[in-house]
Amino acid sequence: MTRLSRCYDLADMREAARRHLPKGIFEFMDRGAERELAMAENMAAFERLKLRTKFLVDLRERDMGTELFGKRIALPLAIAPTGAAGLCWYQGELALAKAAAAAGVPFTLTANSITSIDTIAKEAGGRLWFQFYMWKEEDLSFQMIERAKDLGFEALFVTIDSALGRTREYNDRNGFTDPISLNPRFVMDMALHPRWVAGVIGRYVLNGGMPRHENYPEQYRRRITTAQSKGPSNSQSMTWEGIGRIRKAWPGPLVVKGILSADDARRAVDQGADGVVVSNHGGRALDSSIATIDMLPAVVKAVGDQATVLLDSGVRHGSDIMKAVALGAKAVLVGRATLYGIAAGGQEGAEKVLSLLATQFEKNMGYVGCRRVSELNHDIFAHPPVQP
Ligand SMILES: Cc1cc2nc3c(=O)[nH]c(=O)nc-3n(C[C@H](O)[C@H](O)[C@H](O)COP(=O)(O)O)c2cc1C
Repeated sequence: MTRLSRCYDLADMREAARRHLPKGIFEFMDRGAERELAMAENMAAFERLKLRTKFLVDLRERDMGTELFGKRIALPLAIAPTGAAGLCWYQGELALAKAAAAAGVPFTLTANSITSIDTIAKEAGGRLWFQFYMWKEEDLSFQMIERAKDLGFEALFVTIDSALGRTREYNDRNGFTDPISLNPRFVMDMALHPRWVAGVIGRYVLNGGMPRHENYPEQYRRRITTAQSKGPSNSQSMTWEGIGRIRKAWPGPLVVKGILSADDARRAVDQGADGVVVSNHGGRALDSSIATIDMLPAVVKAVGDQATVLLDSGVRHGSDIMKAVALGAKAVLVGRATLYGIAAGGQEGAEKVLSLLATQFEKNMGYVGCRRVSELNHDIFAHPPVQP
């Protein structure tokens, strides 16, 4: 039996990922910030929402697809941008992008990826979105936007919740640093995970050397183990006017990621954004943040039909996707779920995660008597959330 064939749900997939990765990398990918309150709350808030069943509906003709930015997707879901993918698996971003293409959902590449934007554009297939942060040296960010445009990326996501560094003490405890330092704790951690060393680091070394953040501007593009190889810093001075400038530089769909209030959602729309992601970065930023599913109805009300509302943070089951869509999200993004998949088994692992989520989504839709995504609304809840 292979590792993946023993993964029957996302909890198994997470456990397989935990076994495969060095502890420092697994915890960097899996954990939250500070006391990890937001991460737990994201999931608890989904779990608190109970459903009302509706039986004896003819369920033979079902369609789980929907439209996003004018094009069809097979499931109201896309893969979120995640910087650690290339450490979970050799060229992990490419594995995620190919899995997304196979499942008929979009993939979002982060500017912080290990695999280069050119490789993704050339080899991934499917619908590709690009996410970036405004760097302190803004001209470098605008050059990245041009690159994404030239390579034909469909939508641009700008993440606004990360101006300041985060507090994640477990990385220090694990000896997992940026740049990666070969301290005794991390060396021992790697020694205990020889399959990861051979399958991930070994393959990078055989194909040109230790991994780098391939999209970073030339002056920052060093091996991740090179001392002083820190990437560009995020801007701490950007304001909403910056979104307006990005709007002018990007002709396609522009999405602001990291919205946690109705006011900020409105400001994003006022600056010309086509979409917002209600997100607390998977509980990796502000630790006392509200759960995103609890914030969603107010954001949906604030933007009306002027923008596409997406949601992420805490999606671990198909029923979570359904709950978010019923409360007004057009789709969800998943971060850790598909990272567990690639860490457990590369593209095949991510495909299995997407397939598990799709099956759970379809089953739950049936229980609440819905055959199509357009039928989802507040009526599916046993106690519909109070309207904002
Ligand atoms: C390991 C890791 C790296 C991430 N890197 C980025 C990033 O580079 N840019 C970004 O906008 N969000 C990043 N995120 C946040 C995700 O895009 C997304 O908001 C979050 O993972 C959603 O929560 P979930 O993991 O519970 O699905 C990262 C998340 C994780 C777990």
